[in-house]
Amino acid sequence: MSNIIYFDNFATTSLNEEIFNEMKKFLIFNYSNPSSLYEFSQKSRVAIEKSRENISNYINAEKNELFFTSGGTEADNWALMGLTLFKGRKNGHIILTAFEHSAIIETAKFLENRGFDVTFINPNKEGFIDKKDIVDAIREDTILVSVMYVNNEVGTIQDIKTICSFVKEKNSNIVFHTDAVQALSELEIDVKDLNVDLLSISGHKVHAPKGIGALYIKTGTDIENFIFGGSQERSRRAGTENVAGIVGFSKAIDILRIKREENVSKRFALRNYFLKKIKENFENYKINGSIENRSSGNINISFLGIDKEMLIMSMDFKGICISGGSACSSGSVENSHVLTAMDIDEELKNSAIRISFGENNTFGEIDEFIIALKEIIS
Ligand SMILES: Cc1ncc(COP(=O)(O)O)c(C=O)c1O
Repeated sequence: MSNIIYFDNFATTSLNEEIFNEMKKFLIFNYSNPSSLYEFSQKSRVAIEKSRENISNYINAEKNELFFTSGGTEADNWALMGLTLFKGRKNGHIILTAFEHSAIIETAKFLENRGFDVTFINPNKEGFIDKKDIVDAIREDTILVSVMYVNNEVGTIQDIKTICSFVKEKNSNIVFHTDAVQALSELEIDVKDLNVDLLSISGHKVHAPKGIGALYIKTGTDIENFIFGGSQERSRRAGTENVAGIVGFSKAIDILRIKREENVSKRFALRNYFLKKIKENFENYKINGSIENRSSGNINISFLGIDKEMLIMSMDFKGICISGGSACSSGSVENSHVLTAMDIDEELKNSAIRISFGENNTFGEIDEFIIALKEIIS
């Protein structure tokens, strides 16, 4: 598969070799269960705790505020379920943006069917949430506000610090969660500065393996434990730890610490080149969402009159991977709930594709994409 052109880095990223080598030590040699009593298991235990310290440090959290999960989906589920049903609540009000990842939307719908009220706040056509809409939706019984940091389809970045401060000003008892899964590769995340209570991250968007993530839980946040059956994660999330995944995630953070800004610049350069080439070669297209305040690697673009599924399949035939939206829904013919929430025209939605560059993509790959696109469209 070496001649694949992979422009779907928002779906997942390749496992970095350096990270894999670090993980291998804990898959093949130090394979002990960290909960066992003998000396051998201490290697795994120490590796987990060092990783926790490293990752929490990176987002300016305390070590005991970071809990490993199986990924972003689980962290998002924990945030919502842990404040509502698991807490023994039978009702209450939740505020979400209408263009959250399905891990949030579907969990909220589940809660809606069990007696909770959910208000979905629409972004504007550019892909931004107005803090006033969030604040106006707050009620006496609002338990939680959840606003994603970087949208996974259009890449727009929300001003989480300001939105959170307005929510807290209106009612400091409301728990504020942000899904920062797509933000980790792009932004410097400082949970203390943002003043959020809960924050979800995931490893496989930053070249760590799939199946590892974490939920930051600010000290004092009244959230119920999530998985029962063992004392792992201080009894809050039971189950033998994914030691290699945790170590890999930590290594990915080491690399981000050094390379994040450089990677962002590389992705910006790729996107600018792409946009220039598109402008030179095509007329009937529209970029969905703002190009300002948008994650560096992301483009969501509609080629008018070109059906997105046909385009994705034709590109696939040429070995080019692009997406019709989020990875979780890309197998479906349904239009994107993100673009629907942004009130994007039906015709644009039918042809909207997501291209997400990684820092390892090249200008030459973009040239190949342009040639392929011309052939397909003609
Ligand atoms: C914004 C966002 N939240 C949550 C997730 C789910 O994360 P994971 O794949 O680690 O379960 C994703 C993955 O695409 C995402 O983009």
